[in-house]
Amino acid sequence: MTTKNGAKGLFVSFEGIDGSGKSTQARLLAEALQKAGRDVVLTREPGGSPGAEEIRALVLQGDPDRWSAETELLLFTAARRDHLERTIRPALAAGKVVICDRFADSTRMYQGLSRGDLRAKVDALHDLMIGMEPDLTLLFDMDPSAGLARAKSRATVEERFEDFGVGLQEKMRAGFLALADEFSDRFEVIDAARDIDAIFSDALARVSARLT
Ligand code: ADP
Ligand code: TYD
Repeated sequence: MTTKNGAKGLFVSFEGIDGSGKSTQARLLAEALQKAGRDVVLTREPGGSPGAEEIRALVLQGDPDRWSAETELLLFTAARRDHLERTIRPALAAGKVVICDRFADSTRMYQGLSRGDLRAKVDALHDLMIGMEPDLTLLFDMDPSAGLARAKSRATVEERFEDFGVGLQEKMRAGFLALADEFSDRFEVIDAARDIDAIFSDALARVSARLT
């Protein structure tokens, strides 16, 4: 298996609004691929390496207005760079399947779109400091109020973004669908309003198709 990232592994990202079932499906997919004999690294953003996990606490906890969108962009990019250096690139070079719960498309949405139009800065910083995209991005698409109800039922301290409310999630949903058109070579849209098993068999089929 050789991918467009020039590595031997496969880099899959999961995207979508809060509560759309990404973490649940990422876990199920990792287990299924492991059972099928694949070497899998299940990881997430922000986080996925010790340094990036420290940055995660800074960006996900506290008041919604704790950081400006620009400062957030720098923090998320710093976390991603560390994650890429320490976790993602070594795993791909070793031929592993990397399943990443959120990646740069989340920055394009949450920092690029949520508070003014910062997309050009997001893209410039991405080109400068990250410079790679997943081989495959699964977009878990669903109605935001249902997603937010699911997310809120988890009741964790990491609620800074969920606290921006359903209006933001509506904007994010539309934005993600637009990104799926923009990057149609790597995006696949999955209907995430179904039960867990139905979504899982759909997701597994789409990833398996890239693993032959
Ligand atoms: P995300 O990572 O996208 O925020 P999660 O996987 O954490 O979403 O799911 C959010 C909540 O919804 C969790 O409590 C999870 O158990 C539940 N959940 C996940 N998928 C479904 C589904 N298809 N139907 C109903 N509830 C779900
Ligand atoms: P996550 O833990 O995936 O939340 P959820 O499980 O609710 O989807 O991500 C936490 C939050 O971080 C989420 O609201 C989106 C936000 N985020 C950004 O704003 N920019 C980014 O680059 C990333 C990766 C996440």
